[in-house]
Amino acid sequence: MTKELRPLKWNNANSLAEVIDQRLLPHEFKWIEIKNTQEMAFAIKDMIIRGAPLIGIGAAYGMAMAARDELDLDETDTLLRSTRPTAVNLMWALDECKKVIHQWGLDRNSCGKPDFKVLHQKLLEKANWILEDDVERCKEMSRVGAEYIKKKFGNNKKFKILTHCNAGALATGGYGTALGVIRKLHEENLVEMVYSDETRPRQQGSKLTAWELAHDGIPVTMISDNMAAHCMKKDMIDFAVVGSDRITANGDAANKIGTYQVAIVCKHHNVPFYVAAPHSTIDLNLATGNLIPIEERDPSELHTINDKLVTASEGVKFFNPGFDVTPNELIEAIFTEKGLFKN
Ligand code: MRU
Repeated sequence: MTKELRPLKWNNANSLAEVIDQRLLPHEFKWIEIKNTQEMAFAIKDMIIRGAPLIGIGAAYGMAMAARDELDLDETDTLLRSTRPTAVNLMWALDECKKVIHQWGLDRNSCGKPDFKVLHQKLLEKANWILEDDVERCKEMSRVGAEYIKKKFGNNKKFKILTHCNAGALATGGYGTALGVIRKLHEENLVEMVYSDETRPRQQGSKLTAWELAHDGIPVTMISDNMAAHCMKKDMIDFAVVGSDRITANGDAANKIGTYQVAIVCKHHNVPFYVAAPHSTIDLNLATGNLIPIEERDPSELHTINDKLVTASEGVKFFNPGFDVTPNELIEAIFTEKGLFKN
């Protein structure tokens, strides 16, 4: 059995976070040190770490480092919140930190400053808890998803599964959401093949998901995004499962750009489409997916691959939304650690 993949570790001795630089995979597997809040904000923005739950975890450690360095915690909160707008897990984790600050930050010393030592300790405990709790939530949601799928299809079927982007151990504290469901089915020897969409423009599917599944010995075939309909027509897919960055009160789900068209293609071919996400992804403050802020990313992700221009850039306009929203009617079920999400 391969060692459980964890993309972020807290190094207590040196008071820093160690993260896998996900920009470099699959060519290079490299741990880098994140020593302070500024570096954490950059790591989230530049997608050294990415995936909805993981950026929340990173932000919580960012807050703990801010207290250690006696920074203005309101400014730090604003900085970390501004790194990526779509995944609500980031805001959820920072809200959890805010509760800690409200509880422990009221005591002032003789200079009127908060007791940063205590705050640092309490925020660090919170960040450690968010990390470990996320792994447990992933495992429980994966069990929920695997049980649902076995009940629907029967216990002895081996599944051919489509996924989009990376919702795996790399995107979470560990284990994963959509890939967690797949991992759970694989533990029961029920996975025939996982088809991993390439996921242009940043190629999380080919660079991260294909790498992660191969690393864990789970059968994986990579396809480009425009092949999903063909594969479904050829009966190569039993169901699709993806993660999410924000699920609104009515059950609409934002996820990596291209997810919506996968869901439409699933509907056309009568292939069940599932979403797996922890409760920290659910945003009951928003009534529908139309209200979710969609991150727009740099055009270079479209016109450049490996520092090489792949399309004309002069005189050409680019539109590069990082996420789209799948309407609830295209989603058969949303798996969470507390059972199915009911809207
Ligand atoms: O831009 P990314 O790579 O952070 O996008 C990640 C995704 O869209 C994932 O599917 C989502 O965050 C769910 S991760 C469990």
